Amino acid sequence: MTEPVDSDPDREPVGKPTSVSRITLSHIMTAGDTNLLGSVHGGVIMKLVDDAAGAVAGRHSGGPAVTASMDEMAFLEPVRIGDLVHVRAQVNWTGRSSMEVGVRVLAERWNESSPAQQVGSAYLVFAAVDEHGKPRPVPPVIPETERDKRRYQEAQIRRTHRLARRRAIKELRERRAAEGLDDA
Ligand SMILES: CC(C)(COP(=O)(O)OP(=O)(O)OC[C@H]1O[C@@H](n2cnc3c(N)ncnc32)[C@H](O)[C@@H]1OP(=O)(O)O)[C@@H](O)C(=O)NCCC(=O)NCCS
Repeated sequence: MTEPVDSDPDREPVGKPTSVSRITLSHIMTAGDTNLLGSVHGGVIMKLVDDAAGAVAGRHSGGPAVTASMDEMAFLEPVRIGDLVHVRAQVNWTGRSSMEVGVRVLAERWNESSPAQQVGSAYLVFAAVDEHGKPRPVPPVIPETERDKRRYQEAQIRRTHRLARRRAIKELRERRAAEGLDDA
């Protein structure tokens, strides 16, 4: 359950440790989840990733949060029907109103007793929003372990690259528009 949205924008948000909002979402893959090759469709995994990350973002920010972007979704191994899939998600980094959520996808093969194997990963950015859908401040995440601290630092690198890429593309489009080049 999520807490009510904090309606006082001037109040300094209190930090929250990473472990407070970390979750694992588990799901058994069924015949309805397959692609033409008979393994699990990537979109099914992406939905689970977005669901788990959304739950984490909502818990961390104490209210509604929307997916702003999903990047570096990697599929490392095929997932099969009957596999028990675990989607582990945590807040890696927080900005003013956005959070990067890191997700690891693991699968336990239904017919093997071997440990769960990592089959995918992704990084998503969520924006916490108020009742009008406008961004609202989020509590700073407090990384607890060395692994959390490394993930925080790596998330900062991704954030810098995302902003730089967006800026460069925007500038290119503005330049082309100013030159009268129309590719619509
Ligand atoms: C995400 C959304 C709330 C951002 O609103 P906005 O008016 O652009 O607000 P801002 O520019 O202030 O961005 C808010 C924060 O999100 C981040 N952000 C916005 N778009 C982003 C993107 N594409 N990738 C990464 N971060 C993004 C900003 O960097 C900012 O972070 P900060 O406050 O921590 O510095 C708005 O674009 C939206 O509602 N999108 C639709 C979301 C949705 O419906 N998702 C479900 C898909 S069906």
